[in-house]
Amino acid sequence: MEDKILMVKNLSVSFSDDNGKIIAVDDVSFTLEKGKILGIIGESGCGKSTLALSIMQLLPGKISKIEQGAILFNKNDLVKFKEAELENLRGNDVAMIFQEPMTSLNPLFKIGRQVEEPLKIHKHLRGKQLKDKAIELLKIVRITNPEKVYELYPHNLSGGMRQRVNIAMALSCEPEILIADEPTTALDVTIQAQILFLLKNLNKEVKTSIIFITHDLSVVAEVCDEVMVMYGGKIVEQSDIFELFDNPKHPYTRGLMDSQPSKGECGKPLSSIKGMVPSFSNMPSGCSFSTRCSEKFCERCSNEKPQLFNIGGNHKVACWLYEKEEVNIE
Ligand SMILES: Nc1ncnc2c1ncn2[C@@H]1O[C@H](COP(=O)(O)OP(=O)(O)OP(=O)(O)O)[C@@H](O)[C@H]1O
Ligand code: SF4
Ligand SMILES: [Mg+2]
Repeated sequence: MEDKILMVKNLSVSFSDDNGKIIAVDDVSFTLEKGKILGIIGESGCGKSTLALSIMQLLPGKISKIEQGAILFNKNDLVKFKEAELENLRGNDVAMIFQEPMTSLNPLFKIGRQVEEPLKIHKHLRGKQLKDKAIELLKIVRITNPEKVYELYPHNLSGGMRQRVNIAMALSCEPEILIADEPTTALDVTIQAQILFLLKNLNKEVKTSIIFITHDLSVVAEVCDEVMVMYGGKIVEQSDIFELFDNPKHPYTRGLMDSQPSKGECGKPLSSIKGMVPSFSNMPSGCSFSTRCSEKFCERCSNEKPQLFNIGGNHKVACWLYEKEEVNIE
């Protein structure tokens, strides 16, 4: 359908080294609707960045592989794209703000030159037109004194300013999809709020569809329309944002919510999910959360992977507790 700008179908991604192969993204399917913000949350190492890098087709060459699946952007499968087609797509139709704002700019080049780069390649701008557009982009991301910043090097800027420059570059060609991988994690709270406000505005004004990756539930609640919870490379819960916060179903999602600082009652210690995320080489054969789940109730929890049960609306949960609640959708 036309309003589905990105459809990821049964995507699995592996990493291999001398110790063997792990599946970091395991049979993941989801849809990004045009003009919507989709949040992806989950603890460190659950496969969020790997999923993002697969969409950009920027996985590290020799050690990673797309084992199966399709990534349909406007109905074209990016997995089958040739490198030249991908170069044309990246930064132009699909752009990414990377996880690390302090290192994702080239220290050797001035800010202006770096913001101009995608405009030169994809929009073929030159001369005054190019410079004017770069300065306009710096203004859009609320950089004060953009003419001066244009002449500066990354080391002259604070973390918040650098992340704004990254966002300006990502937005330069008005991409249809923006993937923001933890764009505010390394920043202080005030700057974080400003960046979130900026992304929300861009989504509203320019209708850019956004995939927003974070491990901060409060950030998801603030900016996203829909959310996917990942654990051990799989989606374990997926729903509209209000439904997820009103009615979290998966024991892992509930654990994440209970361990948010805002949930702590005065004087009581904050609750946490017991145990550690198992390593990918040691994933349980049944439900990936079974080694930490306080609601584990049957043999199948340990032996059989639960599928994502659709329990109505857009709400899906990968947990045997909800098998009987599954609704049939045509
Ligand atoms: N370059 C790599 N080489 C080998 N294995 C990797 C590489 N990148 C990721 N992995 C594997 O994939 C798993 C998922 O990593 P990924 O970076 O996608 O997690 P994440 O959810 O983005 O974590 P974080 O919240 O810390 O950014 C890791 O636990 C690791 O086992
Ligand atoms: S399937 Fe079982 S172990 Fe897994 S989350 Fe549900 S109740 Fe817990
Ligand atoms: Mg990551």
